[in-house]
Amino acid sequence: MSPVLDAYQQLLSAGELRPDPDQRRAAAALDRLSLDLASSGGGVLRKLFRKGPKRVRGVYLWGGVGRGKSMLMDLAFDHIPTEPKRRVHFHAFMLDVHQRIRRAREEGRGDPIPPVAESIAAEAKLLCFDEMVINNTADAMILSRLFTALLDEGVAVVTTSNRPPCDLYKDGLNRELFLPFIDLIEQRLQVVELNGPTDYRLDRLEGVTTWHVPNGPQATAALSRAFFQLTDYPVEDRAKVPSEELEVGGGRTLHVPKSLKGVAVFSFKRLCGEARGAADYLAIAQRFHTVIIVGIPVLGPENRNEAARFVTLIDALYEHKVKLLAAADAEPALLYPAGHGAFEFQRTVSRLEEMRSADYLAEGHGAG
Ligand SMILES: Nc1ncnc2c1ncn2[C@@H]1O[C@H](COP(=O)(O)OP(=O)(O)OP(=O)(O)O)[C@@H](O)[C@H]1O
Ligand SMILES: [Mg+2]
Repeated sequence: MSPVLDAYQQLLSAGELRPDPDQRRAAAALDRLSLDLASSGGGVLRKLFRKGPKRVRGVYLWGGVGRGKSMLMDLAFDHIPTEPKRRVHFHAFMLDVHQRIRRAREEGRGDPIPPVAESIAAEAKLLCFDEMVINNTADAMILSRLFTALLDEGVAVVTTSNRPPCDLYKDGLNRELFLPFIDLIEQRLQVVELNGPTDYRLDRLEGVTTWHVPNGPQATAALSRAFFQLTDYPVEDRAKVPSEELEVGGGRTLHVPKSLKGVAVFSFKRLCGEARGAADYLAIAQRFHTVIIVGIPVLGPENRNEAARFVTLIDALYEHKVKLLAAADAEPALLYPAGHGAFEFQRTVSRLEEMRSADYLAEGHGAG
């Protein structure tokens, strides 16, 4: 019985997925969990001897963006024949947990964690949550105890994260209080790394136009499509893409109007029309694997500052192998035809051309 591997294999045969050894290993781990589940819990003998539910070993999938973690979790959720089951985004899960804790407190039942764990366990024997991140002490403490209780109840947990367990809540306040939770994950879940060379999401950039001319509704629509394709953002949430205040050193920040899954959207004005410099651009290049810039105008001699900043920006993006999608009023070669530094601008033109190439697009962020 290997429901996950079978489903994975079918997608491979159908040509919907490309073979990936890390993914195959992960699918096998999820099948092992499926077997654990099938042999746990309700056995007559276990009941006879009044044993608690057998422990099942969950799976912790971690790796870089676009490696297929969510895809595999979905396969597991769809094909592991356990009921009841629940798949939830980690943020939604934590909101739900806080609500349950509040209710338990209102009912005055003492320590809220055991009853909350019990109610969650009653609703899901297989609990999948996507994108575990922990960024405050309160959540860290709650999770630590809740997880222990859930695992003791025999709940099969599948979770994904961009970090290995040992890096969860990295640099967090009072992290030492969190360390037992990391031990717990490492002991009670099978930790599976999914870090093959391919970011399948970026792969989809293949054949996508990266430099749109001219600025206008058509270019905007195409870039917006690319943005959502790259981030897998739910259609219903598209009106509220998160923004970010990026720290750029020296206590300064840069407002990123759209920031999601390592993809940022900026206007040329914001990036090069204000007093910005190498430190800002470096911070952007380190933080984002893909940058979308809209509204790049043709620059004239009066725009020498903008042109100089644009050169510095492209240097930083290029050095860090950041993917660039843009809307501009001209092809790179015609962007800054005359003005101070127009000769040096040729290097930028050449880099911009290279950044459109399939080879450049296939390289990983930060490589080289
Ligand atoms: N082996 C593969 N061949 C082709 N496409 C794949 C493969 N694996 C995953 N994909 C596709 O790549 C995209 C990204 O995968 P997925 O969303 O699962 O990544 P992820 O690891 O969860 O990334 P993130 O950390 O950003 O959430 C999905 O559309 C998925 O269907
Ligand atoms: Mg994912």
